[in-house]
Amino acid sequence: MSASGATTNQFRRLFEPLKVGPMTVPNRICETTNTIRAAQLPGFVDDPFIAHHAAKARGGTGWIGSETFLLNSPLPNEAADEFFPGTGAIRIPLFNMPGFVESLAKFAGAVRETGSVTVCQLTQLNFTMAASSLPIVEAYDWIPHELDSQEIQQLIRTYADAAAKFAEAGVDGIEIHCAHETLPQTFLSPAMNRRGDEWGGDARARTKFLREVLVGVKERVGDALALGIRINGQESREGGYELLELREMVSHVAETGTLDFVNVDVGHSWGGPSYVQPSYYGHAVYREAGKALKVDLAGIPILFSGRVNDPGIAEQLLEEGCCDLVGMTRAGIADPEFANKAREGRLAEIRRCIGCNRCIAKSIHDDAPDMFAKPTCSVNPEVGNELHYAMTYKPAQERKRFVVVGGGAAGSEAARVAASRGHEVILFERGSKLGGQINLAAAAPGRDSFEDFVIFQENELKRHGVDLRLGSEVDAASVMALEPDAIACATGSRPRRPDTPGVEGPNVVQGWDLLAGRAEVGDRVAVISQEDYFETPNVADYLAERGKRVEIFHKYLGIGSQIDRYSIAPVMTRLVQGGVKIHTGMRLASVSETRLEFRSAFGGQIQSFEGFDSVVLVYGSTPDARLYHELKNELKDELENDPDGAGAATRLFLVGSAWVPRYLAEATQHGARVGMEI
Ligand SMILES: Cc1cc2nc3c(=O)[nH]c(=O)nc-3n(C[C@H](O)[C@H](O)[C@H](O)COP(=O)(O)O)c2cc1C
Ligand code: SF4
Repeated sequence: MSASGATTNQFRRLFEPLKVGPMTVPNRICETTNTIRAAQLPGFVDDPFIAHHAAKARGGTGWIGSETFLLNSPLPNEAADEFFPGTGAIRIPLFNMPGFVESLAKFAGAVRETGSVTVCQLTQLNFTMAASSLPIVEAYDWIPHELDSQEIQQLIRTYADAAAKFAEAGVDGIEIHCAHETLPQTFLSPAMNRRGDEWGGDARARTKFLREVLVGVKERVGDALALGIRINGQESREGGYELLELREMVSHVAETGTLDFVNVDVGHSWGGPSYVQPSYYGHAVYREAGKALKVDLAGIPILFSGRVNDPGIAEQLLEEGCCDLVGMTRAGIADPEFANKAREGRLAEIRRCIGCNRCIAKSIHDDAPDMFAKPTCSVNPEVGNELHYAMTYKPAQERKRFVVVGGGAAGSEAARVAASRGHEVILFERGSKLGGQINLAAAAPGRDSFEDFVIFQENELKRHGVDLRLGSEVDAASVMALEPDAIACATGSRPRRPDTPGVEGPNVVQGWDLLAGRAEVGDRVAVISQEDYFETPNVADYLAERGKRVEIFHKYLGIGSQIDRYSIAPVMTRLVQGGVKIHTGMRLASVSETRLEFRSAFGGQIQSFEGFDSVVLVYGSTPDARLYHELKNELKDELENDPDGAGAATRLFLVGSAWVPRYLAEATQHGARVGMEI
């Protein structure tokens, strides 16, 4: 269903249309710009791009911000445009390429058909050029080139040139990106702009760059489309602007008479606070920024975003006068249909964003060459696979009996997808609830929102009539006795235990057992870390919160090296506040009741420590495929004549971390694939 239609009274404000400059937004729900890299080739508006972003419009989101569009710069394309190598979102400005206007017009048309509007963000991202030669990001040491007046004028023209192309393509609005350490923010920021000429100085002078950009765009495109800015409500860095000064600057910008909307959020592109706020942050914690601008700029619609993942919270923000439009970007990645579901009162069917930040991690940090990178969401396997799903997701031709063993992310998803296609599904889970490892993650401080995914799966399995058998351990014989047409072994993984001398001792426990509430530790605890994601800090945080004195011994340079830059700051902040000490380059060599010995990763020297009451192992996990092998043995006659199993009377799948332990997104996607196969 499209963005218009019957509305429940519960969300009266949320589904009220709003005039923003010349465009009418059909409701207040916005996909703010998110460069998730949906296109097959970064920067192009191709079919995968359209499929990903238009799905949200069809799902009822009124404002579609899609992905950012980079502009020409005086730098060669080869110049790095982010603050460390390998992280460029989209390096090449494409609006001048042949066919760009046509492809953007196709996208705008697809959005318009649903009744929603397209708002395109124009960005000068080059972190290698700025108002002054000062670090743009405190956490890194990159020093940008200081632009001269001629370069500044040239850059200002790029916005108007691009705007003309976007107007030609028929988009509804344009947003000038001045937040997230983009070029205009380097001019606005007293920390980054120390110029002595007309482009620097007091609050008003620092807005000159932005004012000229807006006036230039307005002169070129007139009132054909809505024009606005995205701005950071407070810089939260030493010497940076705070909300009060931002309000003054925005008032100067508004004097140009060019602003049809202001989109405000709070945070850095590197951490504390992060503008892509992970689960550690409350919902809409920076709402005061929206409220303040709404007071200052009467008549100019204010869009606010920041971890709003629920229509109820969005309605409340509107009611409290915090904004006129609500950014619900990851909410729409997790469930592009959430707006329609909310309007129709189907709240239990909404798959909420859990704030894990895998989507932004994947789009920013992916090591794969650009052309192979695909968007990802931990809870929504269709993300990045929209075209594939459109082609292959079909109701079952013949209803089959599908037995799933294991109710973690992979098993639940396999069951959900197969049942939604009309199969008979029986799911065995040995625990008392679904979720598997998600429950361990959710036990850590700041991660309780992970449970939302478990609740969603419970609701969906019930809705689709899955025969859910909790607290049930099964063996190969009992599975076969059900005469299944297909079996998925989603039996998960087990924590890895090294063969280091002494690890079998009574003072040694597994991090998983701790998070599951199955193990106790003493007062002073050594956490031995052989993994690089959230498990180590989560375990340490869990212990510190309970008043334990915690020291982490990590195998290499530092913990959390696989955690994205938008999430790492709150994680580390919690460890610092909890007094957790971190030792690096240490590999456990032996454990006794009184002493721990480590071998240095850099040179092999042995170092010993005493006085720990307990040792907690965080070594990642190994697959538990025992049931799969038993079943394979049972089915060996069938499989002998059909080695890949595709034509076997009983199809057997090994899925999720029972196959190989990876992240949540991979488990969910693997489960969904199997659910589609049957
Ligand atoms: C994958 C991803 C890419 C993003 N890229 C951009 C971007 O290019 N420009 C921008 O202004 N914001 C970007 N954002 C930030 C979002 O617009 C939004 O502010 C953020 O996700 C917080 O809102 P939410 O809690 O509703 O998701 C991105 C967010 C995500 C998840
Ligand atoms: S990957 Fe995580 S943060 Fe991103 S939309 Fe999905 S659930 Fe939300």
